[in-house]
Amino acid sequence: MSSTPGASAIGDIVITARPATDCVAQFALSTDDLLAGPVLDCPGGASDFAATVRTLGGTAVSADPVYSHSPSDLARAVERDLARVRAWTASQPDRFPLDGAGQWTHAHRWNTAAATFLDDFRRDRAATSGDYRALSLPRLPFPDDSFTLAVSGFLLFTYPRHFDVAFHLTAIRELVRVAADVRVHPLNDSARNPYPALPRLLRHLTEAGITSELLTVQGQSDSRDNLTLKLTRR
Ligand SMILES: C[S@@+](CC[C@H](N)C(=O)[O-])C[C@H]1O[C@@H](n2cnc3c(N)ncnc32)[C@H](O)[C@@H]1O
Repeated sequence: MSSTPGASAIGDIVITARPATDCVAQFALSTDDLLAGPVLDCPGGASDFAATVRTLGGTAVSADPVYSHSPSDLARAVERDLARVRAWTASQPDRFPLDGAGQWTHAHRWNTAAATFLDDFRRDRAATSGDYRALSLPRLPFPDDSFTLAVSGFLLFTYPRHFDVAFHLTAIRELVRVAADVRVHPLNDSARNPYPALPRLLRHLTEAGITSELLTVQGQSDSRDNLTLKLTRR
């Protein structure tokens, strides 16, 4: 995977609504993985991944700083950011397939995922079930080994101008502390540039007793997002 001339970065961190089926594929997960024990999705954004795990009969917690918002404020922020995603994808037709109206062909699926997420977020706030926690990496207030699986999509490696190598290292060590199996995707930024410090980061993780495995996956929103990092403690 390498950067592509003309692929533009999305800019500031955006709240996205990646459909659960895309998350399952990009993290190379099986249904057994989803149901083996508690799952952490950090950042959860407006994805319906955790809601889908619960629908399947599993347990999942989503963590993201935007969950400090009220449901109505979060709905407005999600709509604003999905409009940004639509404009960004529509500006790169060689990269993102567009329909006859010039709209990204996945936009409808993302809107559906966002609607499922927002319904579930409202349910959670009414029931105070704690399924959506307003938290920020690199610190997670969970005891060691709270989760069998943690997934982290489109934050680490995606925004290298916002987070330095030390942040990435601390955040990954924190995810590995709380979960037995950690998956991070993709390993490039939003303009398809591979994360330049990945070899250095992997060396530090090895020294810290963490085993890393590079999985080749089928990119979902961008077919070139085809690497996932699987991390486990030795
Ligand atoms: C591109 S979205 C990804 C959401 C989801 N994983 C998906 O793929 O649709 C990035 C998310 O990271 C969240 N975020 C920003 N800083 C964070 C931090 N320090 N820790 C955890 N989440 C953060 C943002 O609020 C945003 O919802």
